[in-house]
Amino acid sequence: MANKLLYRPYTYRMKILTIALLFCFITSHLSAADLQLGSKLHQDNCIACHTAMTGGDGSVLYTRENRRVTSLDSLAKQVNRCQSSLGLNWSTDQQQNVQHYLNEKYYNF
Ligand code: HEC
Repeated sequence: MANKLLYRPYTYRMKILTIALLFCFITSHLSAADLQLGSKLHQDNCIACHTAMTGGDGSVLYTRENRRVTSLDSLAKQVNRCQSSLGLNWSTDQQQNVQHYLNEKYYNF
């Protein structure tokens, strides 16, 4: 009985820990998928024009010293403005995936 009482909190903690680890794994896995999706959306719809403007792979637009985007919020607005002026009708999720991708890769806010 004493043994059982001592043992219980340990298994309980292990359960919580396992669930927490699983949760971390699932959320990080999802965000990797979201990043990939963002990368693809960006590749398919956005890069060509930026590249034609600037040469290279166009990413200089995001890394130049006087870049327009200066915060996560203005990045969200810029992505929204571009996709809407192109008539892409992206969902909020799609916009967020591209925003997430650009932030991870270039802006790092
Ligand atoms: C038809 C051409 C064209 C297309 C297509 C295009 N852009 Fe742009 N984009 C521009 C131009 C031009 C600028 C630079 C504006 C400036 O420097 O004032 C720009 C700038 C940006 C910037 C800001 C860079 C900075 O200075 O920080 C972001 C972010 C951006 N575009 C995202 C996108 C996304 C996302 C898409 C796809 C949905 C897209 N663009 C498609 C022409 C385009």
